Amino acid sequence: MGKIISLVNQKGGVGKTTTSINLATYLAKLGKRVLLVDLDPQANASSGLGVEVQRLQKNLYHNLVLKEPLANSVLKLEVSGHDLIPAHADLAGASVELSNVNNREYQLYEMLNQARDYYDFILIDSPPSLGLLTINGLVAADEVIIPVQTEYFALEGLGQLLNTIDLVRDNLQPRLVLGGIVMTMFDRRNRLANQVIKEVRGHFADKVFDAVIPRTVRLAEAPSFGQSILQFDRFNKGARAYRALAEEVIQRAQQ
Ligand SMILES: Nc1ncnc2c1ncn2[C@@H]1O[C@H](COP(=O)(O)OP(=O)(O)OP(=O)(O)O)[C@@H](O)[C@H]1O
Ligand SMILES: [Mg+2]
Repeated sequence: MGKIISLVNQKGGVGKTTTSINLATYLAKLGKRVLLVDLDPQANASSGLGVEVQRLQKNLYHNLVLKEPLANSVLKLEVSGHDLIPAHADLAGASVELSNVNNREYQLYEMLNQARDYYDFILIDSPPSLGLLTINGLVAADEVIIPVQTEYFALEGLGQLLNTIDLVRDNLQPRLVLGGIVMTMFDRRNRLANQVIKEVRGHFADKVFDAVIPRTVRLAEAPSFGQSILQFDRFNKGARAYRALAEEVIQRAQQ
């Protein structure tokens, strides 16, 4: 049965989407069957993989709110080697539309449970908030990976996020665990960045992945070409880091 992993941080711009895209691609490259679910109305993961969301007939909104079967919206991305359920701006209204539904926090869980048998990993890219969409992503998941930007305010907001994960575990979904923390946008020439990594490892010990994602312009450029870093520049240091992260994720799943 597949493992469902939500990438969550309510802080914006910390590397959730970049990590979702590249982790999905490298897990697929390493032979895993992968589904990426774009839960963010901004649809960055979809467009970053070259999907023109405006031209699609169906997207996650149709599954989540209109209860259409997954097969209606799943895209097979031949180049990056995994499947994608694309997002759409309409998802922004889903929070309101779902708010009166029974078990509104379990809508994504119910939807993805049917898909578990077909995949080794299902990754969920979350929006930068702790609203109903993100809560759906947490309830659907077995574990959470938190991308943390390697900067001075790295730990800011992390307490609130960990608290939310605890609340979801205690009230909605007892299986949920913190899978790991991945440090992103690391600049090794920056002394402060090195301190931040030390501090985060001090707090979270072996929950922090060994793979640290460097800051590199190639990772920022790749989505504008609709490509993961594997397709865009596979010898880049960012590519090597995401490959190492995928290997760790596989290794931890086997433990
Ligand atoms: N390792 C990196 N090196 C350089 N730029 C990066 C790196 N990771 C992400 N970026 C860039 O930083 C910006 C934010 O990254 P990303 O979109 O992945 O964050 P996010 O957490 O998904 O943001 P949001 O909260 O808006 O969903 C993007 O422009 C992205 O291309
Ligand atoms: Mg994002």
